[in-house]
Amino acid sequence: MKNYNIAIDGPAGAGKSTIAKNIAKKLQYIYVDTGAMYRAMALSMMRQGISTENEEAVSKACSLIKITIEYIDGLQQVKLNGENVTAFIRDEEVGKNASVVARYNTVRKKMVELQQSLASSSNVIMDGRDIGTVVLPSADLKIFLTASSKTRAFRRWKELEEKGILSNIDDIEADIINRDRQDMNREISPLRQAEDAVLVDSSNLTIDEVIDKIILLFKEKCKGDLI
Ligand code: CDP
Ligand code: CDP
Repeated sequence: MKNYNIAIDGPAGAGKSTIAKNIAKKLQYIYVDTGAMYRAMALSMMRQGISTENEEAVSKACSLIKITIEYIDGLQQVKLNGENVTAFIRDEEVGKNASVVARYNTVRKKMVELQQSLASSSNVIMDGRDIGTVVLPSADLKIFLTASSKTRAFRRWKELEEKGILSNIDDIEADIINRDRQDMNREISPLRQAEDAVLVDSSNLTIDEVIDKIILLFKEKCKGDLI
């Protein structure tokens, strides 16, 4: 039986994971957060005291690391050598280091294999940077989700504020722009819109509006026989 796949790519803070998680719930698909895998790899390097700038050392360590994905109540859990590290991968330092290790061929090869194997056995909605271009080039629907850097920085700032963490919105925007630049300019699998992806700018859309728009696009693509 055919598995259906939805690919969502875009820059940091565009709303990919929020939107993908909600759509997965509505369609009863598996949500695959690929960024979490790169984050787990970065966390492992940080814990081992390996500089993420050292490609040789990262590649060597990467071959010895086991990253696995499990689901508890529909929520993705990332395991690093058997330890559930889902709660330790969210901070910005890990995000920055994830963007550095994500430049390396050994790391990407390992992650892409894991992602493709997850998509081969289930209907998935997967988000990341290279899903429509590399991981699932034949996805049934490809979305390139974006928003202005000011909007994305404000969303991140608000998230932190809600957790009681005070931060500077201009610093957040500068970090976001830097990480996007690194992701768009790397040699292997740079962040870019696949030719057959639909561009959705969420700057002035609510979460529900984005979800409705993508589900409508998916229904149109699959001629309504899935939902
Ligand atoms: O996964 P990605 O980095 O693309 O973004 P996210 O973590 O899903 O979303 C970042 C923040 O933007 C979250 O707090 C979302 O609730 C918020 N958001 C929003 O306010 N409006 C949207 N249309 C989409 C996301
Ligand atoms: O949630 P946010 O958009 O901030 O980042 P993420 O999706 O958790 O990804 C963290 C980093 O991993 C990104 O900045 C990319 O460098 C890298 N990544 C990637 O290269 N390819 C993917 N498919 C997913 C993430």
